[in-house]
Amino acid sequence: MAGTSDLDRVEAPVTMKTYLMCAFAAFGGIFFGYDSGYINGVMGMPYFIELFTDLKRADFAEGDDGFSLPSWQKSLITSILSAGTFFGAIIAGDLADFFGRRNTIVAGCGIFIVGVILQTASSALGLLVAGRLIAGFGVGFVSAIIILYMSEIAPRKVRGAIVSGYQFCITIGLLLASCVDYGTQDRSDSGSYRIPIALQMLWALILGIGLMFLPESPRYYVKKGNLPEATKVLAQLRDQPLDSELIQQELAEIVANHEYELQVVPQGGYLHSWGNCFRGSLFDSSSYLRRTILGTSLQMMQQWTGVNFIFYFGTTFFQDLGTISNPFLIGLITTLVNVCSTPISFWAVERLGRRPLLIWGAVGMFVCEFIVAIIGTVDGQNPKSVQAMIAFICLYIAFFASTWGPGAWVVIGEIYPLPIRSRGVGLATASNWLWNCIIAVITPYLVGTDEANLGAKVFFLWGSLCVLCFLYAYFLVPETKGLTLEQVDKMMEETTPRTSAGWKPHSTFAQEMGLTEKKGELNEVEVSPPKAEIGDAAV
Ligand code: BGC
Repeated sequence: MAGTSDLDRVEAPVTMKTYLMCAFAAFGGIFFGYDSGYINGVMGMPYFIELFTDLKRADFAEGDDGFSLPSWQKSLITSILSAGTFFGAIIAGDLADFFGRRNTIVAGCGIFIVGVILQTASSALGLLVAGRLIAGFGVGFVSAIIILYMSEIAPRKVRGAIVSGYQFCITIGLLLASCVDYGTQDRSDSGSYRIPIALQMLWALILGIGLMFLPESPRYYVKKGNLPEATKVLAQLRDQPLDSELIQQELAEIVANHEYELQVVPQGGYLHSWGNCFRGSLFDSSSYLRRTILGTSLQMMQQWTGVNFIFYFGTTFFQDLGTISNPFLIGLITTLVNVCSTPISFWAVERLGRRPLLIWGAVGMFVCEFIVAIIGTVDGQNPKSVQAMIAFICLYIAFFASTWGPGAWVVIGEIYPLPIRSRGVGLATASNWLWNCIIAVITPYLVGTDEANLGAKVFFLWGSLCVLCFLYAYFLVPETKGLTLEQVDKMMEETTPRTSAGWKPHSTFAQEMGLTEKKGELNEVEVSPPKAEIGDAAV
């Protein structure tokens, strides 16, 4: 059995070119963040309200909250995007297996642009809602398949950091959305809402055009059985010559893992292959069913941390506290804290690992949330207490941004075996959007002064949910740091989440499947079809 050091050598060094190629796709996060962020501001713009309702600004006194869109309209405009993203993310998995990861993302950008054009042209509810539904479809494609693509092309040592870059772009998108909304909100023409909406086309154009110059995922070609192309794109991604031994070793492992999985899981028609996502026992932590549940529930738990309460309803919450002179500024500060704390994860996710990040992140969040709830309940009217609450809310955001924000995306990109990977990531992303939407719909009922009116006590709820996040991470999330996606697969078969961190690679799929001729070390790899055929592929 080969030692760990031999197995560690099975990868090319990470060059700057490799790094930049893999990191470019993170740009897709801007879509996600901007799209979730801009609509709240637009729905509060006076010009927009006058155009989309019969209300007139002049008929209302300053600060009268009667001058706003009716709740059903707000709810429809907000949630229709999530409906689009939910279905887009689910469908995208199949398309990514059929047409390729890169093509599916580029198609997502195209669909998104069509949706944005309709929204920009709209001056009534029907077209706006149709545009948001279509744009949502595109965001669903992009948000699911970017994670899949990045996880599949990134070298294992920096995979966590690269996928965290996606979360960083989400936070920048949210920040950009608040800045653009802030800049156009007082315009007395259609530019007030059309500028923030139309600007999104730029993100889609940059991502779509940029991706056309990047290679496809080698794992897609392996799935398709096209090894010459798989070799070619892997060599490009690793910045190595086509006949490099390191490339052949890495590819041999991907191929062997895929062949192994195909032996374990019988293949069948379309429905049968969807059914594979739900195969196996609930009590086996490596079964496909458990992995599908792990990915979808991890994204649900990420939403249960309550972070979007701050981003969607923070302004109203701070306004209701009464002692804050500029709630919009506080909203901007929380968004900035979100951006600035995310880069901590680039380091932490690779140094500390995914499990500790999620476990300690949940602890940090629940402590901060309980403190906010206690201060708010005991002494919520005192300006000094309110300042302390804001400070702890910022600390809570910093914990989220450096742990659960990126961590949930990193883990869902790593836990699925190739036969169900694209659908698994799609389902997990759809779960994120579904829970995002559910929380957006129910939260106003929890805090509304005419409803449950929980006020600061709502943080007891979020704090308790973060305790669940802690237990969830401790008992259910495996450690995937530093392993190739194929090693993750083996680790999940041989360990439980709690013993996973100590697992070391001890053999390769290539050895087990007879795709490598081991001569002392792992340096003589034969991939089927034979080496000569692979080597003949043009770059
Ligand atoms: C979450 C979003 C959230 C954002 C905040 C993402 O990881 O999925 O729902 O708004 O982080 O930065």
